[in-house]
Amino acid sequence: PYPTYATLRAQAPVYRNTDSDFWALSRHADVSEAFRDNTRLSNSWGVSMDPTAYNENAEYAMSFLAMDDPRHLRLRKLVSKGFTPRRVGELAPRIAELTAQHWDKCLQMGEFDFVHDFAGLLPMDVVSELLGVGTSDRAHLRKQSDLLIHREEGVTDVPPAAISAYLDLHAFYTSLLAERRKNPGDDLVSALTTAELVDGGERTALTDGEIVGFMMLMVVAGNETTTKLLANSMFWGGRSPDQVAPIIAAATDDDAALDAVAPWVQETLRYDTSTQMLIRRVVEDVEYGDFTIPAGDRVLLLIGSANRDEEVFGDDADQFVIGRDSDRAIMSFGLGTHFCLGAHLARLETEIGLAKIAQTVSSFDIDFARAARVHSVNVRGFADLPMTVKA
Ligand code: HEM
Repeated sequence: PYPTYATLRAQAPVYRNTDSDFWALSRHADVSEAFRDNTRLSNSWGVSMDPTAYNENAEYAMSFLAMDDPRHLRLRKLVSKGFTPRRVGELAPRIAELTAQHWDKCLQMGEFDFVHDFAGLLPMDVVSELLGVGTSDRAHLRKQSDLLIHREEGVTDVPPAAISAYLDLHAFYTSLLAERRKNPGDDLVSALTTAELVDGGERTALTDGEIVGFMMLMVVAGNETTTKLLANSMFWGGRSPDQVAPIIAAATDDDAALDAVAPWVQETLRYDTSTQMLIRRVVEDVEYGDFTIPAGDRVLLLIGSANRDEEVFGDDADQFVIGRDSDRAIMSFGLGTHFCLGAHLARLETEIGLAKIAQTVSSFDIDFARAARVHSVNVRGFADLPMTVKA
């Protein structure tokens, strides 16, 4: 259970924290209303509590996640062509190949760490395929992206290692872009070098800053979150062997396996989602319940709490129940204009990963005593998840 969220929903659904100066919304109805309110709530100061989240001069601020409409939508439209269900579906065979490569090694080992040997590898591979990054660079990028988000418990300053990782990734993607401008390929970055931004009657090409900002966004938004979803699924699956055994039994071929694991992924997204909270800046006074949140204040949207709201998911909202009806209600990918562009891809990757596992093992055991969570401002998941499998 998430006891703090439950207390907030029951006793202080519009909570004000005066120490760190923010408000927090915990009920499903309020969080969903806030997501849709792009007029009074702005993304343009960044969406995380982390002090690195917003720096006017950083490329991150040029990523459209940290922009408001109409500029956000104009940029988003340019890249969303790369994320249609059809385009994402076309990636499925390649994702299956990459999944098999990593999982076969795990099976050979029999005893391994699910994060280090599988969940931490696949999403960076997939983002790299989209961006056209070669296989030899991926291990380095993975390491930098881990350093970028890693925080020690109790330390609020951004660690120097995270800053140098940011600079390293930035330099890498800047030179990748320069290379693509010279030799375009069949990847999203090459497509963006010739894309035009239409503003009124004017058409302009994207700047280097906008394209690099997009690449950095892919790494931050598409990599860590999906790694966490995969490992959270295994963790809660491991805690619920009675619910997972029928899934393994049903996974008789690829299609059956994909169908069987989809509700497992869905329930993990609801129950223990990777992105637990996002932040908005109030630009025009806004009312929730009896409170008016004034312009200038920050509001936290507690996704993890909205996903456990008894009003929507019933009295057993705090239990992990694979197959419950929650499809339209989960907040895990946000809502409205910033709705996760990679939602379809994230599900597909996770489903392909779990389907492969369900098809190739008869059971698995997680070493719960050695499982370790990551320390992060808003991402929830595991740093270590040791496990053994029986083929
Ligand atoms: C936006 C969650 C995977 C790309 C978002 C938002 C959420 C989210 C909650 C909304 C942000 C906001 O409203 O401020 C997740 C979760 C994932 C995941 C939980 C995995 C389990 C991915 C993947 C990609 C991706 C795989 C791409 C490769 C994006 C982008 C945005 C976004 C580009 C910004 C959209 C915009 O500003 O219009 N994601 N995401 N995400 N996500 Fe994801």
